[in-house]
Amino acid sequence: MPIQPGQPLDALDTPQLVIDLDVVDANVRRLFAAAKQRGVAVRTHFKSLKCAGLARHIASLGGENFLCAKLSEAEVLADAGLSDLLIANQVVGPQKMGRLAELARRVRLRACVDHPENVEQLSRAMRTAGATLGVLVEVDIGMARCGVEPGEPALQLARRIQDSPGLRFDGIQAYDGHLQMLPDAAERREKCLQGLRQVLATRKLIESAGIPVAVVTGAGTGTWEFVAGFEGVTEIQPGSFVLMDCAYHAVRPEFGCALSILASVCSVRPRWYVLDAGSKAISKDFGMPVIKGRPEEKVTRLSEEHTKVEAEPVAVRLGERREVLPAHCCATMNLHRQCVAVRRGVVEACWPIEASGRYD
Ligand SMILES: Cc1ncc(COP(=O)(O)O)c(C=O)c1O
Repeated sequence: MPIQPGQPLDALDTPQLVIDLDVVDANVRRLFAAAKQRGVAVRTHFKSLKCAGLARHIASLGGENFLCAKLSEAEVLADAGLSDLLIANQVVGPQKMGRLAELARRVRLRACVDHPENVEQLSRAMRTAGATLGVLVEVDIGMARCGVEPGEPALQLARRIQDSPGLRFDGIQAYDGHLQMLPDAAERREKCLQGLRQVLATRKLIESAGIPVAVVTGAGTGTWEFVAGFEGVTEIQPGSFVLMDCAYHAVRPEFGCALSILASVCSVRPRWYVLDAGSKAISKDFGMPVIKGRPEEKVTRLSEEHTKVEAEPVAVRLGERREVLPAHCCATMNLHRQCVAVRRGVVEACWPIEASGRYD
């Protein structure tokens, strides 16, 4: 039977991916209010959500701009009526150019580049389709993934974009992914500010060449407050702050864990019990999950369909339920096809997770 609004959580089968909307609302309001106070826009990263219903919910709280890791995520958002989208990555290859151009005709779309050949490919695709794409130069400020070096290389690419029909140079993206989980907040802040100084210098260099820089964007849940309000930054792009997970919660305790996997005890042994959800339902790439509200119960192993929880004593009955807080919310959303949004234990909505399992 399909899940219906108004049903109590206790009536649902397990495993079930559950989102506590009261916690989502508190997380979103907290970050949006702080960003507004610091005069910076928020562009929520959709790779953490993958669910159009949740994106619409965030839009209803005032966050209509989204960041995407993948073209497929941007298509899901456009279909959901969200129309200010930035793909925070390089879109390459002839197969994707048609989709990108088609999307650029439907919504206000931007993408990142770090190579002149990609600029050429994008320009050709947009010209052919009669579309315009906003383009940001991705600058590497220490993550050592994509991006060009700050300074002169970024200026050269900005010039190239400006001279390319079908493209509009919009600014700079600089994401400090290597800093997000640094446990020492003072070290995280200091390293973050070092990167931001490079971004600001690059912005000034590009502007001094007569090229306007409308957008400077970056930051994640771990660094948002250092980036928001820094001179020259126009927007921040965190994603995990919405749902959160137990790994990020250790770094950012001000945001609550809204995402859990509701699971049932399927086996009781003298020193442990076992839940009916494993690594196919709970991502373990950032470590072991925790059992909500029960610090004395420790998850010691995840296999495909089972979570082993050790406790002393094991005070649990067969069929009893537990809420499991994953260590990585983004990867956990990607494992499921639907999620149940609840308030105070009652179902408010059941949403498909349209972009889960999409890597294109
Ligand atoms: C480009 C980019 N921006 C921002 C983020 C921030 O996401 P989160 O808030 O989940 O750390 C990420 C995370 O992977 C990212 O890749």
